[in-house]
Amino acid sequence: MSKEIRVVGNWKMNKKVGETLSFIQSLPPLLKVAYLAIPYTAIYAACAQKIPLLAIGAQNMHDDPFGPYTGEISGEMLRDIGAEFVILGHSERRHYFNETNDFINRKIKHALVTNLVPILCIGETALERDNNQTLEVLTKQLSESLFEIESAHLEAMMIAYEPVWAIGTGKPATAQMAQKTHFELRKLINQQWGPQVAEKIYILYGGSISADNIADFVKQPDIDGVLVGGASLNSASFTQLLQIVGNIKT
Ligand code: PGA
Repeated sequence: MSKEIRVVGNWKMNKKVGETLSFIQSLPPLLKVAYLAIPYTAIYAACAQKIPLLAIGAQNMHDDPFGPYTGEISGEMLRDIGAEFVILGHSERRHYFNETNDFINRKIKHALVTNLVPILCIGETALERDNNQTLEVLTKQLSESLFEIESAHLEAMMIAYEPVWAIGTGKPATAQMAQKTHFELRKLINQQWGPQVAEKIYILYGGSISADNIADFVKQPDIDGVLVGGASLNSASFTQLLQIVGNIKT
């Protein structure tokens, strides 16, 4: 089955409200949905623009709907201001904020009940790859983060395979290496949740995607799209990525 390729931008801790609005207003008309995960503070203003086929999302959230968690934001709050999806378990959150698979699992469950599409990020470090532990690490991240998630929910989710050593380094995996890993991930999903989920679920690749390499990645049979950090920060380069995957008329 061929799927529409998805491009998801991840702005991380970049852009104020004014910069966000100029960026999204400068995008050419979209032919299918494009995704931008932006800072919490700009979500309401971005959604209020109602740009057709532009889905705005967040980069994290708490796993409870409300309560005494100073400084936190819940999925319900994100839905309330128009967010449609949320990135969960990004390696920067796992590394700098000690997020565990168990916590990420609870967040995914909360995102699903609030109707936010979760994008679960997984990925091995350079050391783990060198020690031939890649598949073991990914299997653990995947099965613990997706513990007790029903097939019907999983079908609608996205998983982003982001090797930690490829994030923000300008040194992506090769498309063939990523394809091999995506194939293994889909096999794992098939074993645990069955063929329908394995076919429908989106598996994105992330890590140093640029206009020069995106085409190689998205032509691989098991790569359904990309999660892009650096190259999504500039509207011209984000537009170029969308053009290459056919999301904008050339
Ligand atoms: P990068 O970031 O494209 O700048 O490597 C990807 C990500 O962290 O999601």
